[in-house]
Amino acid sequence: MPKSIHLFLFLLVTCSFLVCLYYSEIEKNVSRRFGPHLLGSNLRNLRASEDVFALTGAFLNVTPSASVQHGEVEDQNNTSSFYSYHSANTKHANFSSAETIHLAVIFCNVGQKAALKWNFKKMTRSLFKHCSNNIALHFHLVTDPSSWEIAKEVIHNESKKTKINIQASAYFVDTFAQQFVTTIEVLQQYFSAKPGTYYNQALFYASVRLPDLIPSDVAQLIFVDVDTEFRDSVEKLNQQFEYFDDQQLLGLAPELSPVYRHILYVYRNQHKTSLLGEPKGKGFPGYNSGVVLMKLNMMRQSNLYQSLLTNMSLANLTDKYSFKGHLGDQDFYTLVALEYPHLFYTLPCNWNRQLCQWWKSKGYEDIFDLFYECKGFISLYHGNCNSQIPDANT
Ligand SMILES: *[C@@H]1O[C@H](CO)[C@@H](O)[C@H](O)[C@H]1NC(C)=O
Ligand SMILES: *[C@@H]1O[C@H](CO)[C@@H](O)[C@H](O)[C@H]1NC(C)=O
Ligand SMILES: *[C@@H]1O[C@H](CO)[C@@H](O)[C@H](O)[C@H]1NC(C)=O
Ligand SMILES: *[C@@H]1O[C@H](CO)[C@@H](O)[C@H](O)[C@H]1NC(C)=O
Ligand SMILES: *[C@@H]1O[C@H](CO)[C@@H](O)[C@H](O)[C@H]1NC(C)=O
Ligand SMILES: *[C@@H]1O[C@H](CO)[C@@H](O)[C@H](O)[C@H]1NC(C)=O
Repeated sequence: MPKSIHLFLFLLVTCSFLVCLYYSEIEKNVSRRFGPHLLGSNLRNLRASEDVFALTGAFLNVTPSASVQHGEVEDQNNTSSFYSYHSANTKHANFSSAETIHLAVIFCNVGQKAALKWNFKKMTRSLFKHCSNNIALHFHLVTDPSSWEIAKEVIHNESKKTKINIQASAYFVDTFAQQFVTTIEVLQQYFSAKPGTYYNQALFYASVRLPDLIPSDVAQLIFVDVDTEFRDSVEKLNQQFEYFDDQQLLGLAPELSPVYRHILYVYRNQHKTSLLGEPKGKGFPGYNSGVVLMKLNMMRQSNLYQSLLTNMSLANLTDKYSFKGHLGDQDFYTLVALEYPHLFYTLPCNWNRQLCQWWKSKGYEDIFDLFYECKGFISLYHGNCNSQIPDANT
């Protein structure tokens, strides 16, 4: 071959390499700048700017996905699209002897929000790192087709370092939105700052309809936000189910900001001695939906739970507590807990250590720390409102 062709090929390879490096650096910077959550979970669906979308698209093109096709099972039914991915570890292990822990995560619109992928990677890595090897994990992802491709790749990559059995299923948000249109319309009326873009609203409330979405043989499930990191094993979190009494359907940790004190302002003015909106310990500060333990079977069978998702019930409750929310599913759980506390188990704050301090500078400096404090070892961090999660080794 003539020398000039060698030189040309050399330059071509070098250029391709630099272009890849450039995009991956940009991707990292974009991740740092654009968090998915600005204020709790309400901005889960924050619109990213056009340039973020374009850059992410380019990045995805240089990422091969063929490696994860192996081991994939497809099963598409009428009501919910269901795909399943089994990690390579599955065939070396004994599934029947392992306890399966079911985890639900909302992982959508990743093409528009590069930070989500980064968060998901850190979340799964921290999850796998702290698991013992003889458990099985089943992810249930509320997702869209392109985010699902990324999720599988992240799970595949991260699972190489562990011997845990891993399965993942996808539930596509388009189907979900059609299936639960009535619930979404009702909830958005009471718990959305600006009712509007319909597709995003569906994600906002997905957790409340998980009992109907997840196959009926799954009896209990842990829902986690994608902006969380484990510092302890998910088996220990799963053991919290054992502390539920026979009426409790859901387990959530307290909200660690005065947001519900703020929302309950009118009610508290009319009920001067109310403990609703007071800090945890003596009062009830509301719940945070970054981690939700769900007794799916009991939720499916509970007439009360089903009736709470109706316009009539929510009209009554929001009226009684003068409650106008903006945080989606989390508002629903908190409002229901004001009236029916017996349905809820309160998780220790250590299992959902929220880091958002947005409310501190909004007129609550004097009492913020009473809400925010969470003593002892932190088992799970929640980097809500785009807060930085401390490094694992400090
Ligand atoms: C899908 O819907 C069609 C028509 O309603 C029905 O005949 C078929 O059995 C359904 N398939 C599944 C897998 O539920
Ligand atoms: C889809 O339908 C098949 C039978 O047609 C069933 O075995 C499978 O469990 C169904 N999957 C879901 C997610 O409902
Ligand atoms: C898997 O575990 C079950 C229960 O411990 C046991 O009965 C079975 O023999 C095991 N199977 C294999 C292939 O190891
Ligand atoms: C998975 O790992 C491969 C090989 O290391 C890498 O090229 C790819 O970008 C990774 N994918 C994701 C989604 O992190
Ligand atoms: C809920 O009920 C109110 C009246 O109490 C009505 O104005 C509203 O349209 C209803 N919303 C939905 C989504 O049905
Ligand atoms: C709502 O309130 C009205 C009037 O107080 C009552 O008649 C009705 O039963 C309540 N509905 C629900 C679903 O709680």
